[in-house]
Amino acid sequence: MSPASETVAFRPSGPLRGRVRVPGDKSITQRALLIGAMCDGPVEIVDPVWAGDPLSTAGMVSDLGVTIEGLAGRERHVVVHGAGLRGLRAPERALDAGNSGTGMRLLAGLLAGQRGTFVIDGDASLRTRPMGRVVTPLCAMGARVGARDGEFAPLTIEGAELHGIVYRLPVASAQVKSSLLLAGLLATGETVVVEPAGSRDHTERMLAAAGAPLRRAGDEVAVRGAERLALGRVVVPGDLSSAAFLVAAALLVPGSHLRILDVGLNPTRLGFCEVARRMGGLLEWSVAECDSDDDEPRGELEVRASSLHGTVVPAAETPTLIDEVTLLALLGCFAEGETVIEGVADLRAKESDRLAAIVEIVGDLGGEAEASDDALRVRPSALRGGAVSSRGDHRLAMLGAVAGLVCPAGVDVSGFDAAAVTFPGFTEVLKEVLPS
Ligand code: S3P
Repeated sequence: MSPASETVAFRPSGPLRGRVRVPGDKSITQRALLIGAMCDGPVEIVDPVWAGDPLSTAGMVSDLGVTIEGLAGRERHVVVHGAGLRGLRAPERALDAGNSGTGMRLLAGLLAGQRGTFVIDGDASLRTRPMGRVVTPLCAMGARVGARDGEFAPLTIEGAELHGIVYRLPVASAQVKSSLLLAGLLATGETVVVEPAGSRDHTERMLAAAGAPLRRAGDEVAVRGAERLALGRVVVPGDLSSAAFLVAAALLVPGSHLRILDVGLNPTRLGFCEVARRMGGLLEWSVAECDSDDDEPRGELEVRASSLHGTVVPAAETPTLIDEVTLLALLGCFAEGETVIEGVADLRAKESDRLAAIVEIVGDLGGEAEASDDALRVRPSALRGGAVSSRGDHRLAMLGAVAGLVCPAGVDVSGFDAAAVTFPGFTEVLKEVLPS
């Protein structure tokens, strides 16, 4: 998304207290829309998040000829009338992924084996993000996918006959893994993806629940061509990556005690909570009982204000907290001793160069952070506050907001509108838990 212009002031305003819910999970909502589109028959999605990214993905699914009942009213229950595995219709115009890397990369895999020619484009930020990471392995499967300069959107996809491959991901990425698995549903033979470290497994769970021939063993996940998919109902838990902003604020603001209800607690997403606890954070979570191993774990998270100390996050752990590095950097500023997060190079390819941005923002607020090729180091420092820009990146917008609650001078965040890409109503949720 282009950097928006709204400036919002965040000031220290007392402890965060009470019980609160956060909007639905962005990754799960988008997968339910995309996999739902390939199902036979209706798929009900309960509590999706109608934030910028899932709305873009829903728009693309609709443009492919799939009816989503309840989308126009952004309802809490929607029904995707799946077109079947090969039933998507090529629209006349380009599909618009907006700001969503997940939407663009997953859909590229899903369309590679369909009939027809498709173009997927995105906003100015998405047009600068690397797509070769999906184009190269998809082409190795027999797909015909073209990218601007071989790397960037718009992507042009001509449906082709696909065959399975064994692909070792050079960098752990749930988006690339998912793209190949979705393509593998329409390929002959087996498509095997091997990950250097475990990334979020929502696609694997949802495909297994939909009856896809999927197997998982260690660092490997494989899928064979499917006959049909059927999903029934997906109940989307709260987004742990959105909850993490409240968790960080509660850890840092003295006197806070917060319970976050009905939030996703998938182990492949729990890295931030685990590391925060290792840093001395008073943080507990309890997973509610699930009916099946394919269900998304969900439950309650409880957090209290804490004294923190630095830690080292090894590269193998980073994929489980990839969207929360911003927040770990902030915790590091208030911790005793140094905090080092390894395996962070891919942050340069997020909605902004998030690695450079973290270093600049921490510096602008009076702290000390530095990035090498693949690691981020944060030294303890008394942050003053000041003014920061979101750079059009939702996670940086909300980082600024949380920093504003703990920096004595507060933080003015320009381009705060970007937060709505994943967390619509962020300031209202914050008001619910701050003293009036
Ligand atoms: C996502 C995967 C991650 C993450 C993004 C959502 C997903 O990206 O940063 O916010 O839904 O699969 P990468 O696969 O590029 O690491």
